[in-house]
Amino acid sequence: MNLIYLCGFMGCGKTTVGRAAACLVPGAGFLDLDDRIVEREGLSIPEIFSQKGEASFRDAETTALLETSDLRGPAVIATGGGALISERNVSICRSKGRIAFLDVPFEICYQRIRSDPNRPVAAREKSALRELYEKRRSIYLRHCDILVEDGTIDERAEQIAALLRKEL
Ligand code: S3P
Repeated sequence: MNLIYLCGFMGCGKTTVGRAAACLVPGAGFLDLDDRIVEREGLSIPEIFSQKGEASFRDAETTALLETSDLRGPAVIATGGGALISERNVSICRSKGRIAFLDVPFEICYQRIRSDPNRPVAAREKSALRELYEKRRSIYLRHCDILVEDGTIDERAEQIAALLRKEL
């Protein structure tokens, strides 16, 4: 169980903090699930959404999660904000590792994601995004093994690294 799946809402900093956490554990790797999907599909995320539809993106997300079995050695995996909405995806993560939730207030996430052309799911009204945030936050809370407490990037990274070290 030496994989840590980092979850949280769009804009919470999963990639930044996840990469920093992996750097703190000798021999640990870092994988961004969205990057893997983009590489596999040969399309950007907005292109996948517009040309193939969200359902196709979600299938690719499940495939990418299944493929994390191929990772050699310990790793931190940044998942997309919608990845843990599917029960199947939660089971995949649970069977292969631990889930860490990067809990960041809505306003901070919102300032980072508003009008981001690379995030099709964020292209909606603030009130609708807040509602989505609340709904998803309860799902992340239900499934996570640890809730990463507020702090600097380094402090948050250390909490994830500590969990990974325990799993080695
Ligand atoms: C999504 C979040 C994105 C990406 C896709 C869908 C979502 O990842 O997977 O645009 O449904 O919340 P980030 O959380 O890294 O922005």
